[in-house]
Amino acid sequence: MKKLLISSLIAVIIVTTLFPEYVTAQPARAETELDEKVKQFLSEQSGQWHDMNVPTVDGKKLFDLVLEGNYKSALEIGTSTGYSGIYIAWALSKTGGKLITIDIDEDRHKIALRNFEKAGLSDYVDARLADAHILVKELEGPFDFIFSDADKNWYKNYFDDINPKLKVGGCYTTHNIIDGGQGGRRGWNQDYLDFIRSLDNYETSLFSDGGGLLISYKRGK
Ligand SMILES: C[S@@+](CC[C@H](N)C(=O)[O-])C[C@H]1O[C@@H](n2cnc3c(N)ncnc32)[C@H](O)[C@@H]1O
Repeated sequence: MKKLLISSLIAVIIVTTLFPEYVTAQPARAETELDEKVKQFLSEQSGQWHDMNVPTVDGKKLFDLVLEGNYKSALEIGTSTGYSGIYIAWALSKTGGKLITIDIDEDRHKIALRNFEKAGLSDYVDARLADAHILVKELEGPFDFIFSDADKNWYKNYFDDINPKLKVGGCYTTHNIIDGGQGGRRGWNQDYLDFIRSLDNYETSLFSDGGGLLISYKRGK
């Protein structure tokens, strides 16, 4: 019996030393009532997002990015009727975070508020009706997750205003970016893409399955 105990103990020590991820791995998150409610809402609304909303694949990607980074203080510029916001806020409901989302259009803002309510996510969203050109400058931060999806000609200005308020390790995502590739062809928002790629303290990749989601991790000050 004593021999068995000692050999079991040795086995545990070997496994935890060689494979520390076994010890630190998180158990899969359990489905919650809120998950059910969000899924139900998204399924009822399926095919009815017609207000410049992101494709579903991008919504899911935003959800994954927030969860993977365990982000908690998110900012979205361009709420529209709340489709991408639902995915971000849903992930934040699991990390214990909150989303500030801004739109200038009153009708879409009101619909978004209703949608967040119906999805059961209102507690995780602070939806502001405002001109983001002004409000983004005023928000204190710090943030650890950004989704920029409003007026494209202002993308660089939004980035310049938010960059000092984004934590190192945080993630800055921008929608509707298409790379024109080599040979001088211009993509969609190419100047912005080239600018972001030129930054040494950001590690950037382009997720192109949907509407072109630029994903930039802040690696240093
Ligand atoms: C592409 S839509 C956002 C879609 C949304 N992210 C989604 O996937 O559900 C862009 C939104 O940005 C808003 N917008 C444009 N200029 C803005 C500004 N200066 N301040 C705040 N919102 C603005 C528009 O009213 C519009 O609803």
